[in-house]
Amino acid sequence: MKILVSGKGGVGKTSISAMLSLIFSRNGYNVLALDTDSVPNLASSLGIPIGEAEKIVPLAKNDKLAEERTGARPGEGWGILFSLTPSVDDIADKYGVKINDRLKLVVVGSIDMSKEGCLCPAIALAKAFLIHVMTRSREVIIVDAEAGAEVFGRGLAEKFDLNITVSEPTIKSLVIARKLIRMADELGIRNNILVVNKVTDELTVARSIKKVFNYERVDYHIVRYDPEVMKLEMLGEGLDKLGPNSIFFKDVHSLYEKILKLKRK
Ligand SMILES: Nc1ncnc2c1ncn2[C@@H]1O[C@H](COP(=O)(O)OP(=O)(O)OP(=O)(O)O)[C@@H](O)[C@H]1O
Ligand SMILES: [Mg+2]
Repeated sequence: MKILVSGKGGVGKTSISAMLSLIFSRNGYNVLALDTDSVPNLASSLGIPIGEAEKIVPLAKNDKLAEERTGARPGEGWGILFSLTPSVDDIADKYGVKINDRLKLVVVGSIDMSKEGCLCPAIALAKAFLIHVMTRSREVIIVDAEAGAEVFGRGLAEKFDLNITVSEPTIKSLVIARKLIRMADELGIRNNILVVNKVTDELTVARSIKKVFNYERVDYHIVRYDPEVMKLEMLGEGLDKLGPNSIFFKDVHSLYEKILKLKRK
């Protein structure tokens, strides 16, 4: 099961990705969590202390590893021949951060070349790694994607089994989510779930969804606003600290159950 978590900035992609990864792994699934944000912070949400999280070098910025695997030095990207199919088989094992026995995190970083401004060896390496895990791995893969639509433009989108677009419960945010879901659909991701996060009033949300999506069918899931999530965030603590009775845990757990049902289908 390859799951993409998308959505505009600040809606809760990282929090949902982290909680889902923890829940899948605690239920016996081998999970690989991938952070593809240019400002990665999934590690911290998974409970890695800030000081340690800051030391993780994203794959797309790991020039040393890239040189070792592609034979090209940083800055030599353009016009130089370097292997575009570097060996990446062992990267998750060697460079993945172990969160628990069944959960590993690889901080990939952004592979958006236009953003990074070069066809750097490290980006080529990160991209090769992503394609590799997306085509070969049989684990549950959860990708915390960069805000916006960039993630859909990389020839990777169609490899996902499920796109989860996260939205805030506002009309503006839902309009953007609708756009992202349409895009995912056009790119061939067959399953889409809209997660409306930070909800305080479920009735209004249902109405808003109806208004924005009109007659378009959309599978939606509500995750309520949970002050405990904010509190942990303020303390720099991970979501692994959330108890099973917390609102966020419960609502993401029922999302997990929904995903399992999809999988069975
Ligand atoms: N259900 C919730 N209840 C309360 N707070 C939440 C909830 N979901 C997320 N938050 C808070 O909202 C903020 C943004 O969440 P998060 O970092 O997960 O969003 P994001 O979409 O990954 O953001 P970015 O685009 O910056 O990567 C965080 O402070 C987080 O603690
Ligand atoms: Mg994030």
